[in-house]
Amino acid sequence: MKNTLKKKKYYLAILCVVLVASLPAYGAMTKKSKTKSIEQRVDSVLRLMTLEEKIGQMTQLSNPNIPTGPTYISVEKASNVALIREGKLGSILNITGADLTRRMQEVAVNESRIKIPLLFGFDVIHGFKTVFPIPLASACSWDMAAIASAERVAALESSAAGLHWTFAPMVDIARDPRWGRIAEGAGEDPFLGSAIAKARVQGFQGKNLRDDASILACVKHFAAYGNAEAGRDYNTTDMSERLLREIYLPPYKAAIDAGVATVMSSFNEFNGTPASGSKFLLTDILRNEYGFKGFVVSDWNSISEIITHGAAKDKNEATIFAMNANIDMDMQNNCYPKKLKQLVEEGKVTVEQVNKAVRRILRAKFELGLFDNPYKYCDSKKEKSVLLNKENLAKALDVAKRSIVLLKNDNLLPLSKTAKVAIIGPLADAPKEMNGCWAWYGEQSPVTFLSGVRNKIGSSHLIYAKGCNINDATTDSIAYAVSVAKDADVVVLCVGESGDMSGESNSRTSLDLPGVQSLLVKEILKTGKPVVLVMTNGRPITLGSLNDSVPAILETWQLGTRAGDALAEVLFGDYNPSGKLTTTFPITIGQVPIYYNHKNTGRPNIDGKRQGYNSRYIDCGNFPQYPFGFGLSYTKFEYSDFKIDKSSMAKTDKATVSVVVKNTGSYDGEEIVQLYIRDLVAYGVSRPVKELKGFDKITLTKGEQKTVRFQITPEMLAYYDLNLKKIVEPGDFSIMVGCSSADKDLLKLNLTVIE
Ligand code: NOJ
Repeated sequence: MKNTLKKKKYYLAILCVVLVASLPAYGAMTKKSKTKSIEQRVDSVLRLMTLEEKIGQMTQLSNPNIPTGPTYISVEKASNVALIREGKLGSILNITGADLTRRMQEVAVNESRIKIPLLFGFDVIHGFKTVFPIPLASACSWDMAAIASAERVAALESSAAGLHWTFAPMVDIARDPRWGRIAEGAGEDPFLGSAIAKARVQGFQGKNLRDDASILACVKHFAAYGNAEAGRDYNTTDMSERLLREIYLPPYKAAIDAGVATVMSSFNEFNGTPASGSKFLLTDILRNEYGFKGFVVSDWNSISEIITHGAAKDKNEATIFAMNANIDMDMQNNCYPKKLKQLVEEGKVTVEQVNKAVRRILRAKFELGLFDNPYKYCDSKKEKSVLLNKENLAKALDVAKRSIVLLKNDNLLPLSKTAKVAIIGPLADAPKEMNGCWAWYGEQSPVTFLSGVRNKIGSSHLIYAKGCNINDATTDSIAYAVSVAKDADVVVLCVGESGDMSGESNSRTSLDLPGVQSLLVKEILKTGKPVVLVMTNGRPITLGSLNDSVPAILETWQLGTRAGDALAEVLFGDYNPSGKLTTTFPITIGQVPIYYNHKNTGRPNIDGKRQGYNSRYIDCGNFPQYPFGFGLSYTKFEYSDFKIDKSSMAKTDKATVSVVVKNTGSYDGEEIVQLYIRDLVAYGVSRPVKELKGFDKITLTKGEQKTVRFQITPEMLAYYDLNLKKIVEPGDFSIMVGCSSADKDLLKLNLTVIE
């Protein structure tokens, strides 16, 4: 009798959830009542769940056929299905396809007791099927609309393939190009990195998560993962809280302010504590200080790795650390599913901690609209029409050409379409290498440089030789390449790295061109033919003396599906290159870490010359090969008339600077105007020699000029004082405007801030 009553109550409750979940008036509610309603719905689901089912929601496992990390857990595909049926999985990663995700979702919704829809996650890092330039490349566009549009296409395509959630953007600041994951971020600058973080989140998530084709973004890796010692992936990170706050945290914060739905914790230890067990990072800063309300997923196995770090003796301890830090979902650790129940029963983790995590996860599922329509993204007809469609491919071309940076041009580019062109090099016709890291699900036949140029100028005056492989010692083909070069008017020499030399776990100790590619370049140069060096790489490369010997260099990074078309547009002048570096190119690896916003030191090297007792190497200056913010155009931009509307301002006031930029060359073009500020004296604290505080990308036709204005706000002048409190202090500031971060490219004026 009692049992029957219990059962009745249970079915009544289920009915209520279903009824509430299918409220048709949902969309018409106001924002406030919608939030309230989601909270009520979350609570009503939570009330029905057993502890096991709650832990199930906190568990994410990978499709075992597509692991994106070391696989310690041997789960067969079938057992994933079994786990879904038992309510023991809340999310799956690395599974795609409208049909497959529908089948999995059907199991969750029809066959599990609790009927909670699954979340399907995937690393959609720079496009899904249509591959966009690697993030480091698209960052060089400094074009927030273009960057957001790339992520919108990524969201359109991945949602059409059943996905709800991307593990992007990676916003880790990187100052060390040995670190392979520099390719996945926006470069070295916190201000630009923050703007890009916001654009990417908005691109993925759209205006509203409930909208069709919005996917959850996941800002990663929290925190400071990009500071891996010696550039070796997964290595220790140890830094002052000042450095953390000034340089590493701002882009995560910007993503959170932009409404990012999820955060991923990082692999590294941070100041002695593994980040995935760090209460300081994940609770004190992320939750309490930043007010992040979404859910946190661990990185792949990063909770278990607290044990390997030596900071927990077993999975029980690791789980407690992760739970106390507020990690809500366990990605492929098998810690929560195996240990959490017992820990709750023993009172080592509280039910309230579990409830908190489950609430956050359920909230995201509600916000996406999955309780109303779990098959929202499971439409195979749509999948066919969206993936790689014309519009997406056009966007990929647009972003790719904006990502290219012209590093050098001694009057060689653009090329004439009637010239006899030799395309030479191991990257000239290498489809696989155009995509770079994290694109194994993307289109695998991107337009190569050879086919892009052929599409542009035809094949009658185009010749090709590979010259050598990317990364081995074989020199047999160089002689033939030299003979091909001799037969041409101009050589387009395509060199660089393979796609798998950057990205996760692909750090290098050398930044030189791999294999015998430098030798190939030298031999081709001996022919006396003009050479355009086309670089394909996921990090800055050191070219050594070749920088001086080649007349033109184009940095193309890894441009994705439309790589060859983008290069051809730039080579032949149909698009005037406008990209600027977002990471410093060192002269030699010995200068690393090298970045523009460095400190002055007590003994700065002023003129670049070697003198005793100042901060300089005996065998190399401090200047980089190419500075942050640098990039040329086929036209010329002149900066003049740099003015400020007041020479002194109160610390709560604003000032406006203006500069006239004129296109004095013979091409229409786009320029990225950059604003830097230096706080000349801060009480007791040293400040960087300059910090980017604004930028504006403008278009100028031949002969046209524009006045660019920047408002100087108190926020731009603020710094963390001796107590790490952000303040604006009276004093002198140097305000700089120009075309790169190099002093010689900047106009300067002074601003005095008064009480
Ligand atoms: C490990 C990587 O660090 C992370 O960025 C990625 O999202 C996960 N694996 C899932 O593939």
